[in-house]
Amino acid sequence: MSDPLRFLTSMGQALSTMSLYSTGHPARERAIDSSFEQLLNLVATDANAQFSFIDGEVVYKGQVIRELKEWDWSTKLAKIGVQRIEFIPPVQREDFDGFLTDVHERLSQAAIDTSEARQMSRPSIRFGAIGVRGAETEAAVSIATATIAYGLQEEVEAIAWIHGEVEETGTLPLLEAETVVRSLSIAMHSESQMLLPLLQLKEFDQYTTTHSSNVSVLSMALAEQLGMGPREVREFGVAGLLHDLGKVRIPKDILTKPGAFTDSERALMRRHPVDGAKIILEREKRLDTAAVVAYEHHIMLNGGGYPTFKFPRDCHFASKLVHVCDVYDALCTNRPYREAWHSEMALAYLEEKAGVEFDATIITAFAAMARNSSFQRVVPEDSRFAAPGAPAATAPPTSP
Ligand SMILES: [Fe+2]
Ligand SMILES: [Fe+2]
Repeated sequence: MSDPLRFLTSMGQALSTMSLYSTGHPARERAIDSSFEQLLNLVATDANAQFSFIDGEVVYKGQVIRELKEWDWSTKLAKIGVQRIEFIPPVQREDFDGFLTDVHERLSQAAIDTSEARQMSRPSIRFGAIGVRGAETEAAVSIATATIAYGLQEEVEAIAWIHGEVEETGTLPLLEAETVVRSLSIAMHSESQMLLPLLQLKEFDQYTTTHSSNVSVLSMALAEQLGMGPREVREFGVAGLLHDLGKVRIPKDILTKPGAFTDSERALMRRHPVDGAKIILEREKRLDTAAVVAYEHHIMLNGGGYPTFKFPRDCHFASKLVHVCDVYDALCTNRPYREAWHSEMALAYLEEKAGVEFDATIITAFAAMARNSSFQRVVPEDSRFAAPGAPAATAPPTSP
């Protein structure tokens, strides 16, 4: 049995014992001691052990712990707002005892306000919901169709939280990013046919969050359409999710500005590919595809766009793929400076620019996917896509 598995099993046992015996009872103390011992073993080899509990599964280091697939505690913990636990050594026994007591108290309350439970912290143990700053986004986004049970609220909150972490601490919570992608992938395959649960933007300042989720889903769907394997599909999903990460460095009033940008504002906007790539690489070298995509997603096939290569070269395939999904989602969303385009109108725009701005093979695959009946079913001709009165195809397609 691995250290993380041993520790979580012992933690579940300790929590069960705590509901049987009151504070100070030897059996209770023994259970906590034994779990603490497992925790020390774990942090001895992993100085930043983090667990996420999503959809009844336990994620550790970006991987689902398969042995804990049916583990009750995963659902129970998530329900009381503990979707994520992080241990930063040195961890003291009293911190661990306090943490277990907090969790136990929450478990024994019938109803709990999870917003209060979020991110309660001790110096060595942090835990809470993934979407810390997502409370205000409640009901702000909704699925584009009522045909799917998934609300994607947790994922949206998680993305908002990830952006907030990057903005405030400058570091990227990688595990959560991968967990969100995993969860989006599950939502995407939620029915027998491939579905695309795209989000509807309701507030302009949530554009980056909803857009990141949509680009991640579209990128994964398109990668699948192109016959890629699960690992690559997930990699493209992470790249799609993080492509605009550099926007956390842009002031909100510029991001949501309704009118034209000044030269200096445009220059600031155009820094986000470089900033995003830097943020990703500083945190995680192995996310090289995501970093490349963040850097290249505004570069056109003919070398136009930004940033400009000193020596012209071809972009990474993932960048070209995310570029298509990025423009499509941007076009089909209401923006401060223009209304959303109808899906078919956006596809016509993409097809017109195939071979110039976009890779022609990718456009063919994307258009086939977008005109597929399952896609049409979940992206109905509703308010997300303004049909009549939409601006002409000559309007500026995306933000700079
Ligand atoms: Fe971008
Ligand atoms: Fe984007």
